[in-house]
Amino acid sequence: MKRGTTVYLYELAWILPSIAIPVGMLAALVVTAFGAGIHLPGVEGRVVPTKVAETPPFDRPGVVEIAPGRYEARLVAQIWSFTPSEIRVPAGSTVTFVVTSRDVVHGLLIHGKANVMLLPGQVARVTTRFDRPGEYPMLCHEYCGLAHHTMWGKVIVEPRS
Ligand code: CUA
Repeated sequence: MKRGTTVYLYELAWILPSIAIPVGMLAALVVTAFGAGIHLPGVEGRVVPTKVAETPPFDRPGVVEIAPGRYEARLVAQIWSFTPSEIRVPAGSTVTFVVTSRDVVHGLLIHGKANVMLLPGQVARVTTRFDRPGEYPMLCHEYCGLAHHTMWGKVIVEPRS
């Protein structure tokens, strides 16, 4: 192989990835935005943090049955608790958590079920299904101050009678 050709291939080995990587990143953006529907919330996904207590649905936190077997759990996070700190649903329920924070950044982690950041001013929604009866801890998994480690609650999934 001629020396000049070797240099050309060496350059090509850098040029091609430098084109492929941004193209790959752009493709990942398009797929997640339009395919997986990952995007910033619109106006309906915002709330004024200082007025959470007066803003529906957070003026009445708790669980409501929105259809047979489908529930909406409206939670408010604040230092250092969730309101309500305990929710109950029957086994086999599909639950949509609608959650926001009234002060600082918190998180909601229900192992294997939900994992969202709770940003003041933003409403997080996550839907999951509870088939097995039992207790599922709801943990704050974003450091939110001195008593962060005490910020937790639980989902109690009751057996169907
Ligand atoms: Cu709330 Cu950590």
